[in-house]
Amino acid sequence: MNRNPLSIGLPARRRPRPFALVVYGATGDLAARKLYPAVFALFRNGALDDWKMIGFARRPWSDTDFRKEIDTALDKAGAEKTDREAFLSRCSYVKADFDDPAGYAALAAAVEPGRELVHYLATPPERYEQIIERLGEAGLARREGAATRIVVEKPFGRDRKEADSLNAALSSRFDEDAVFRIDHYLGKETVQNIAVFRFGNGIFEPVWNSRYVDYVEITVAETVGVETRAAYYERSGALRDMVQNHLLQLLALVAMEPPSSMSADAIRDEKVKVFRALRPFTEESVVRDTVRARYSAGVVDGAEVPGYLAEPGVAPSSMTETYAALRVAVDSWRWSGVPFIIRTGKRMSRRLSEIAVHFKKPPLELFPQGWTGGNRLVFRIQPEEGLTLYLNTKIPGLSDRSRSVSMDFLYGTGFGVPSPDAYERLLLDALIGDGTLYNRRDETEACWAFIDPLRSAWDAGLVPLSEYEAGRSGPVEARTLPAAFGKKWRRL
Ligand code: BG6
Repeated sequence: MNRNPLSIGLPARRRPRPFALVVYGATGDLAARKLYPAVFALFRNGALDDWKMIGFARRPWSDTDFRKEIDTALDKAGAEKTDREAFLSRCSYVKADFDDPAGYAALAAAVEPGRELVHYLATPPERYEQIIERLGEAGLARREGAATRIVVEKPFGRDRKEADSLNAALSSRFDEDAVFRIDHYLGKETVQNIAVFRFGNGIFEPVWNSRYVDYVEITVAETVGVETRAAYYERSGALRDMVQNHLLQLLALVAMEPPSSMSADAIRDEKVKVFRALRPFTEESVVRDTVRARYSAGVVDGAEVPGYLAEPGVAPSSMTETYAALRVAVDSWRWSGVPFIIRTGKRMSRRLSEIAVHFKKPPLELFPQGWTGGNRLVFRIQPEEGLTLYLNTKIPGLSDRSRSVSMDFLYGTGFGVPSPDAYERLLLDALIGDGTLYNRRDETEACWAFIDPLRSAWDAGLVPLSEYEAGRSGPVEARTLPAAFGKKWRRL
């Protein structure tokens, strides 16, 4: 039993019924880095009772090979050594081509009729529709007597058209509430906390609107480069890879109206309204309100790193952006006139994800010399998870000067337990059947509808591709976005 007094109040979670988790693309990178460590952590925390995990992929592996791979993946992820054998004994492998009905028949034979079934698509996205189709044909999509769900990894299409096609394939075989479209940012602790903070406290919501909020700033900065993912990233770029999903989700959580309940659909109803309220870019506003750039060679964390064009797999003629910044308007009653500035980039000076809500000045300037930035509330998503509120206070002593101080809350010290990895939380939700932290079909549609015209404008060269040195805070051009209303980006 956990006796840590700081963890009192941490809720017991519902438990999954007996299930089989089938991982398509079981030999891939995502499965090894994220999924296996997450399942293992859930297992070790006692969250799973009667379960099995089945790997499904093309490599000619036996159950033993599969278990060895998982074991190695757990080592790499720094997982504990204890309980490994009991864990691995529940893992088995089906070797099959994703298109081969025999593989699905073998799968059907391995899963008892009463056992819930959770399909996890972790293959390259080109395979998704094929797998969905075969699952349907094999009777593994809608089953009598036991719930069946499907988790779909990102990217969820690369534009609205592709997303529509994938949605159509899914809905022809699965009910919408059985479809779990993942955005791992929604599994991060501080991201979940945005709703609790806003709607679980009475004192902030009254000021959460254009009367009191000056502007909102969202940053997701990474130090990593494109790594070994050029084949994917070249077709994606920062706009599709990060903005269409993670950053727009963060924006929606900050901007949405209070839901009527905390049910999955009530929350998603409100988020989708925000996406639909995003003012579409025009040829004029694209040029004025968006910046795209890619990193050149530089120094990150003390090490020299190559520029994007010198990364393995990147074409010399590439025009892919590794940085995107937008000034966005949310045309709703609550947010009319409040700029939302959002930015994301790879190879930046530090890893930092945060949302800063900047409040307006008091109506009367009684302490003009003390105005040092004003009230800001910062949701710190990573690396340190927490909240910071900046307030102006008097400097002690005989002078009348004041300055900004911060009130910090850190999850690590506040609760004394480490936050679980986003995948742990999300996976458990999918196993239970709770879609609150997953995207509904209309959300993905609305996000693509907003991004597509911007993407086309960028592809047509309306906005020049700038450069920034790796290890820096992004291109100088991005300064124009907050400068237009007299502000600066927060320092990274
Ligand atoms: C993924 C992107 O969705 O998110 C990656 O495809 C990116 O390019 C990653 O590096 C960032 O996630 P996190 O959790 O490390 O902030």
